[in-house]
Parts: sequence; C-alpha cells; structure tokens
Amino acid sequence: MARPAGKQNCGRVVLVSCLALLAAGLIADFLWASSHRFSSIGMSLPSSVTTVIEKLPPNSNGKDSEKKKDKVKERKLSATFQDLAAPELQWEKMAAAPVPRLDGAALQIRNYLYVFAGYGTIDLVHSHVDIYNFVDNTWGGRFDMPKDMAHSHLGMVTDGRYIYIVTGQYGPQCRGPTAKTFVLDTDTNTWSDFVPLPVPRYAPATQLWRGRLHVMGGSKENRHTPGLEHWSIAVKDGKALEKEWRSEIPIPRGGPHRACVVVDDRLFVIGGQEGDFMAKPGSPIFKCSRRMEVVFSDVYMLDEEMKWKVMPSMPKPDSHIEFAWKVVNNSIVIVGGTTEKHPETKKMVLVGEIFQFNLNTMKWYVIGKLPYRVKTTLVGYWEGQLYFTSGQRDKGPDDPAPRKVISEMWRAKLILNP
Ligand SMILES: *[C@@H]1O[C@H](CO)[C@@H](O)[C@H](O)[C@H]1NC(C)=O
Repeated sequence: MARPAGKQNCGRVVLVSCLALLAAGLIADFLWASSHRFSSIGMSLPSSVTTVIEKLPPNSNGKDSEKKKDKVKERKLSATFQDLAAPELQWEKMAAAPVPRLDGAALQIRNYLYVFAGYGTIDLVHSHVDIYNFVDNTWGGRFDMPKDMAHSHLGMVTDGRYIYIVTGQYGPQCRGPTAKTFVLDTDTNTWSDFVPLPVPRYAPATQLWRGRLHVMGGSKENRHTPGLEHWSIAVKDGKALEKEWRSEIPIPRGGPHRACVVVDDRLFVIGGQEGDFMAKPGSPIFKCSRRMEVVFSDVYMLDEEMKWKVMPSMPKPDSHIEFAWKVVNNSIVIVGGTTEKHPETKKMVLVGEIFQFNLNTMKWYVIGKLPYRVKTTLVGYWEGQLYFTSGQRDKGPDDPAPRKVISEMWRAKLILNP
C-alpha cells in the first residue's frame, strides 16, 4: 500500500511554534527536571575521580567525624555527571528547524537530513517530516507522517533510499506504544505499511545488518521495564522478504535510547539506559512521572559469530543518543545526551561533549564541547562539518538539568583523532 505525502501547511507550522514557545518553558522545567528519591546503583566510578577516605585515628572527636563526613560527601559528588574537559570548537548557528523537537528522529541521506516526529511540548507531538538541505543550508519539503505512526521513541534506519520506521510511542505525555511499522521511499516520498513488531517497544536499537532489519532492547509496554528481546526480518528495497520477525540472540543489557551503528559488517550498541518516565497510574492524560533510570556507558558488538562482545566503555554514561551519531572515517561520533542523575538534586544531567570511538584503535576520545548540553539531538555530517539540531538543552552553563526544547541548528568543523 502506497500513500502520497501531504503538502506543507504553513499556518500549522506557525501555530505549533507559538504553542511550543509558550508551553516549553513552563512544562519542561516541571516534568523533565523533577526530582525524586535517589537510589544507589551498582556502578563504579572512574578511578581518577574517586577519593580515598583516610583512616581516622581511634578516639576521633567531633571535628574528625565532620572531616570524615566531608570526605564522604566529596566522593559522592565526584561522580560521572560532571562535564569532561573537551576542546573548544568554533560553532556557527544555522537556520533553525521549523519546529522545536524533543525525542524526534533523524536520518541523513546524501545532502538531506530527514527529521521526523518528536514532542513540541510534553502535551503536543509532531506528525510530520522536515528536511534540511546541507547544500544550501535551508529547511523545507515538509510532509505528513501516516496517522497511525508513532510520534516519539521510534526505531529508525535507512539503506540510503528506504527508511524503515519501527514501533515507538503513540501520542503525547507518556502514552502507550504501537507495534506498527512503516517504510518511507525517499525517492517518491511515499509511505508503505510494514510487518508490525511482535510486541511494541519504546526507543529500541534498530539497524540494517547483513540484509536484515534488526530491532533489539528498548523499554517494554510500561515504558520503564527494559526489554532484552532482539528480532530480525529479511528486507530488500523497502519490502519484507519474510512473513514474520524471527528471534535473535538477546541483547546483554536492555533499555531505550542507545546508539546502534553498523560499521564494516559489525553491529555496535552504545550507551543507553534502563528505566524511563512512566504514565502516572490512572491519569487520563497518561501524565509522565519520573522513575529512576540507570544510564550506562556499556558498548557491545555483534560480529559474524553472533555473540555479543564487550567493547571499551564510553568516557561517561550516555543515553538519549539514538539519532545523535554519525560514522566519519571509521569513527563513530556521538553528540551530547544524558548521563547519570545528579547525586544530590537527583535531577537529570545533560551531556555537553562530543565523543569519538575510533574503530581503527578501538579507543574513545572527547573531541569537542557543544554550545550547551543537549539530549536527543539530531546529527548530520557534510563536507567536514558536524551538524546538530533539535533536542532539549540545559538551563545554562552552571545548571546541567534539562529545560528548553530547541529547534536550533549548529555546525562546527569536525576534528577527529586519527
Ligand atoms: C577523513 O579522511 C580524509 C582522508 O584521509 C581526510 O582528508 C579528512 O580530513 C578526514 N576527515 C576528518 C573529519 O577527520
């Protein structure tokens, strides 16, 4: 079944932008930065930031106890949420996207960045595609998504012409997921239905590998519980070659919002988290409420043996990076994200660095500082320049908690470690 894409509706763009501007500041702060009880997790700190607690002499007086307390506090605060030292880059502000987007999706095909869906505010989701052209640095070509396609937490991948769009959350706030799956032919901008996933997922890792569409991990139907399942189906030119998805080796660690990248016939899954916001029980609008999430730095790789191998970890835990990466010169470049929550305020902490995983040396580097910390940003690369747009930025240089949903587009010269 093929459907022609709809025409651009300018009036709606303006309305959506205004609503988003009004509501973003009010709601983002309330929801996305809300605090909750801290639960400790079994994650070790990098040794470079761990302070050894000195052994106190016997008969410690009150002063010594205080000293001990300070030491403990110091260690607790020397956690992974901190900014890492990173080279400054020369950032250039480009044309902003037609709408602000959080949890959107994007894929680059040649000189075009196709940008899909996302929240404008927590109560408003987009159901259209915007396209950025890296040649003349303009936005355009807006067309509608199918009415029954998910609006956020999508799995998405392209073969260079066809874009496969798998499952995701349907609707605003913390609504339920859909298993529905679609294909976009970017030569004709027509949509087709595709074989639904066996069960729905939120933000599963999704890639094309060895002629098959792979979908793994993500959150289960309650939005919080990590899924470990991994499915694949044979595909060619936007069509399924099999009737149903088949089960594959489960992922070692489940959960949403990780990067999933195929380079040189190897499949990598990078970062991500276990747990996410959930709908408040009984809420008629499925109001999002914070749940503890555990962000991780783990990297796993599948090769022809079809066994997961543990790769060197990221420089810090990083999540919300499913469309925030590019492969350039045999390196995976990852932009921004979220890391472990602040140990005292429990607020979500955004990431303001760019990371490089050099596949020649299998080493990670911190290769640049962003203009601000940002999560679920959408990334492209064109003629030596790294671009990012959309997502949710921090409150300011001194406060890494999430605030404004953005439409800005920025670029800087990409400098890689050989
Ligand atoms: C990628 O490699 C080419 C060829 O060696 C080089 O000219 C280019 O500068 C590299 N790009 C980056 C971003 O390092």
